[in-house]
Amino acid sequence: MQEFIPLIVACSLVLAGCNYSLEKKNSPAAAADLNAPAGQVVLNFDLMEKQVFAPHCFECHSLARRNISPNLETFDNVKSNLSRIESAVSTDFMPLDRPAVPAPQKQLLAQWIALGAPQ
Ligand code: HEC
Repeated sequence: MQEFIPLIVACSLVLAGCNYSLEKKNSPAAAADLNAPAGQVVLNFDLMEKQVFAPHCFECHSLARRNISPNLETFDNVKSNLSRIESAVSTDFMPLDRPAVPAPQKQLLAQWIALGAPQ
């Protein structure tokens, strides 16, 4: 029996690792409110920042990175460039030479803007 103990420990560690990655994949943060039933998604600037601007735009439009105008890190900046942002994303002009913003995120952005881009 004694000699099986390390084997059992190793197996448990592997299983624990599996569980961990599954949990990470299914965590609310990773699924990001997108999987919430309609009506439960709070369309606000925070969501846009997490879903659209940070992953797809900050590389170029943030102070700490390439700092290309317009800066998209604050609500006020985004709000005052809304129509340019809307057309740049809907036409895939932005994010420039990077992969287009995925359809669900594009839709979120369009809905948020249609609501009057609430903070
Ligand atoms: C790889 C760098 C890069 C990324 C990523 C990027 N941009 Fe840009 N963006 C630029 C550059 C460079 C310009 C200036 C282009 C020009 O004027 O021709 C620009 C210009 C713009 C403009 C001004 C366009 C106009 O009408 O004058 C807007 C709005 C904009 N970007 C929005 C975004 C949004 C929204 C994202 C994310 C979805 C994004 N960009 C991602 C590089 C980037």
